[in-house]
Amino acid sequence: MVNKLPKGPNSPAWWQLIRWIKDPLSYQKECVQNYGDIFTFRMKGFSPFVVIGHPVGVKEIFSQDPNNFDVGRSNYIVQPLVGDNSLFLYDGKRHQRERKLLMPPFHGQNLQSYAQSICEIATHVAAQWQEGQRIIARKVMQEITLEVIIKVIFGISEGERYQKIKPLLAEMLDVTDSPLRSSFLFLKFLQQDWGTWSPWGRIKYRKKQIYRLLQDEIEARRSLSHELGNDILSLMMSAKDEKGQPMTDAELKDELMTLLLAGHETTATMLAWAFYEILRHPPVLEKLREELDRSGNFAPLEIAKLPYLNAVCQEVLRFYPVIPIIFPRITKTSMEIMGYYVEAETWLTPSIYLVHHREDLYLEPEKFKPERFLERQYSPYEYFPFGGGNRRCLGAALAELEMKLVLASIISKYELTLANKKLIKPQRRGLTISPTGGVPLIFQQKRQIFVRQLQNVT
Ligand code: HEM
Repeated sequence: MVNKLPKGPNSPAWWQLIRWIKDPLSYQKECVQNYGDIFTFRMKGFSPFVVIGHPVGVKEIFSQDPNNFDVGRSNYIVQPLVGDNSLFLYDGKRHQRERKLLMPPFHGQNLQSYAQSICEIATHVAAQWQEGQRIIARKVMQEITLEVIIKVIFGISEGERYQKIKPLLAEMLDVTDSPLRSSFLFLKFLQQDWGTWSPWGRIKYRKKQIYRLLQDEIEARRSLSHELGNDILSLMMSAKDEKGQPMTDAELKDELMTLLLAGHETTATMLAWAFYEILRHPPVLEKLREELDRSGNFAPLEIAKLPYLNAVCQEVLRFYPVIPIIFPRITKTSMEIMGYYVEAETWLTPSIYLVHHREDLYLEPEKFKPERFLERQYSPYEYFPFGGGNRRCLGAALAELEMKLVLASIISKYELTLANKKLIKPQRRGLTISPTGGVPLIFQQKRQIFVRQLQNVT
């Protein structure tokens, strides 16, 4: 056992932070080449930050007693966006209780009831596109995923209040849409509210407006003694703690904001990447369409079980982790990780990106090959786009269902092409990694017309 932290870059701490903000994927790749499968960043404002790029280390973390780590503390960076009462920030019993409360709408029967709505929302958005129109995939996918998450949370997606929330959330996230503008989240001294013309002021102002709408919704439900449904807000409003106390309005609003934020941008980004890769690889598009055409009028849940569609989504999630590392686990005691001895208060973080791009696990890892997921099953330590252990993504099942149904609804009905052949690189967008430029597409036409026209020509 080595009694010290793994090696890592020895450049100044502020420079390590800048590189992490600017391009976390290339920086990690460079470190693996220089220091191996486990290395330590020492970034300004952070404790030593050990990044793990090997499944053995991932297993050591995911299979440990979760009480050996604090995680909520490591997520402090999101506090200005979601407030103090967010699942992201909790640990221990409070975290366990809140997860139990929020979990049911994301599983089983409840999840199934959203399938039809997802297809309808996707088809409705696509039906508005005009022939020859240029669309930005990430933006239109965000419209769809926002509508879905609003429906999951509130049980309905229509009405003035919901229509107002949509642009406000989008505007709030757009403030950090480049690596430079993302610095506001990482560098506290930039978090200055100089009115709505300053980026931080704009984020705060939008958040305030959203919270006002959420408060109105909570009050409206109380006054109408709205019949409780299977939506999240209904469940949260009826929940009581061990002393019989309901959640306060502040708690309700922070959790709603957490889910609104976590629940739409991530999935929209993955869908944008999916369109990019599918349209760049005509054989993949053809195979996908063959499978979808064969399935004809299958019910949405049957479509979600199609093997090639599933493999395509899994490969997108492997190739482009929307969050490059999982939430850092802060050790509460000293422990051994991959033969290294680490002290309490060390930040340990498995890197989704590094493990998903290992050559010994994924043959030709830099190639987009959905077939690999038909040929082999990967363990939860080799493939973990949604993290693992007691913090595994709460919305994983919803996100996967949504990706499959949105792709199926659009790919089977419409012809789209990439607006240009330029290689699109991942870049930081706030806390996520997103396609630079958002993947511009050209909407060609409805697919049935296309097929008929071809038949006429021949
Ligand atoms: C493709 C889309 C998505 C991806 C790739 C993704 C990925 C992740 C990852 C990597 C984590 C951290 C897990 C860990 O540290 O072990 C996480 C946490 C979380 N995700 Fe997602 N996510 C997605 C969609 C969603 C959706 C649709 C929701 C629904 C509201 C959601 C809600 C959450 C929540 C609440 C947590 C915190 C869980 C906790 O702290 O216990 N995510 N997600």
